[in-house]
Amino acid sequence: MIKPDAVGNGHTGKIIDQIISNGFRIVAMKYTCLSEETAGRFYDVHRTRPFFKDLVDFMSSGPIVAAVLEKNNAVEDFRKLIGATDPKKAEPGTIRNLFAKSIEANAVHGSDSDENAAIEANFFFNQFERF
Ligand code: CMP
Repeated sequence: MIKPDAVGNGHTGKIIDQIISNGFRIVAMKYTCLSEETAGRFYDVHRTRPFFKDLVDFMSSGPIVAAVLEKNNAVEDFRKLIGATDPKKAEPGTIRNLFAKSIEANAVHGSDSDENAAIEANFFFNQFERF
């Protein structure tokens, strides 16, 4: 997912370019907005964390781009491409190093396992039989 900070700052095209040039195939993509309820469901696993309300407010504050990507070793390679959750700790050249502003406004989200990638793909693309 490309988050509201990166979409709002006009970084969508540059981020998609990085994703493609690093060997990922985009197999589904959607430009949309999340309501508070939808953002809360997407991040349900964080519901008890102290940052949950701020996270939901932020994720429903503007448009996002949701995408399903394919590649061998996609989860691990995508997490390398985006860098650490906190952009201050993200390696130079990673998407979060280049485009993120803070741990909350951190430009992109990537799934943390194949299992969660399938769940998150179905969250946005529930008619897409590939998943
Ligand atoms: P993401 O990969 O989308 O998964 C959960 C998000 O919560 C994370 O990126 C951060 O943007 C956000 N977040 C906000 N505060 C924190 C925090 N203290 N620790 C971890 N994640 C946080």
